[in-house]
Amino acid sequence: MKELPKVELHLHLEGAAPPAFVRGMAAEKKEDISGIFDARGAYSYKDFWHFLKVYETATSVLRSPEDYRRLTLAVLEESAASGVVYSECFLSPDFCGGRDVAAWRDYLAAIRDAADQAERTLGITLRGIVTCIRHFGPDKARETALCAAETAGDWLVGFGIAGDEKTAEPKDFVWAFDCAREAGLRITAHAGEWRGPQGIRDTLAALAPERLGHGVRAIEDLALVDELAERGTVLEVCPGSNVALGLYPSFRAHPIAELDRRGVKVTVSTDDPPFFHTTMAREYEALHRAFDWDEGQFDKIAKASLDAAFCDADTKARIAKLLER
Ligand code: ADE
Ligand code: ZN
Repeated sequence: MKELPKVELHLHLEGAAPPAFVRGMAAEKKEDISGIFDARGAYSYKDFWHFLKVYETATSVLRSPEDYRRLTLAVLEESAASGVVYSECFLSPDFCGGRDVAAWRDYLAAIRDAADQAERTLGITLRGIVTCIRHFGPDKARETALCAAETAGDWLVGFGIAGDEKTAEPKDFVWAFDCAREAGLRITAHAGEWRGPQGIRDTLAALAPERLGHGVRAIEDLALVDELAERGTVLEVCPGSNVALGLYPSFRAHPIAELDRRGVKVTVSTDDPPFFHTTMAREYEALHRAFDWDEGQFDKIAKASLDAAFCDADTKARIAKLLER
């Protein structure tokens, strides 16, 4: 499974930080964040809301553009080892410079520098999607969107929203999304993870995303599933994340295969891989075991993912060659 060329569309940069990397950063800064790890050194949390806290504590030791340059390299090494040839990662000006545009530019330059290095040495291509954090509220989302609009361009391709889906309504973020869209950014939004079909409908109506982060709980309303299929809305499905966070008891119980059968465009990603003890190769292995998905199905998934990528046509054509084995 490691050998199959993969395209990943849903990866939180800080959420992909290997625990050993974060411990190293904490030691350099003489910070004690040992409470977020278990006895084996893995991230430890009891539910999604605690996960968000642990995530923010881990992120708190990343404090400079140089820290993010090193983080990006560490993350891309893991992705490349799993066969990922193209990846889009979520970046948050909330964590990178506190939504100050000048500071954000410095962080972004460092992340791009690491991405360029990884492209040369590992053959993996990265693009960025700025994401606002829902539970930080709509005012901070506006500032985040302004950072995104200032730096929108060839490398920064999208805008999205993550965080606690149960706080605030999609309509509270319309200004931020319109601002990002007017700057030329493509739109994705987390929905249908912690809220059901109505949360997805509200997100589609307010923010008009081309892609949904997760979106899997559409399966609770088959009319909505048909609508997603008709609209061609792409789901960034992260099965291992959903199982680890208790949304579904197992891969077999996960709706990805049913959504695919019903004509919804599904893709496969890891979300926050070390938090969920996963990698892209492990996602593929688990999907093969649960649904007997074969190479033909994984080729279809990789092509659908590249189709739904937010990068320019030349980059897509170059990556498409890598998918033709
Ligand atoms: N931020 C990082 N991972 C997330 C997830 N699975 N849902 C919402 N926000 C997130
Ligand atoms: Zn996510």
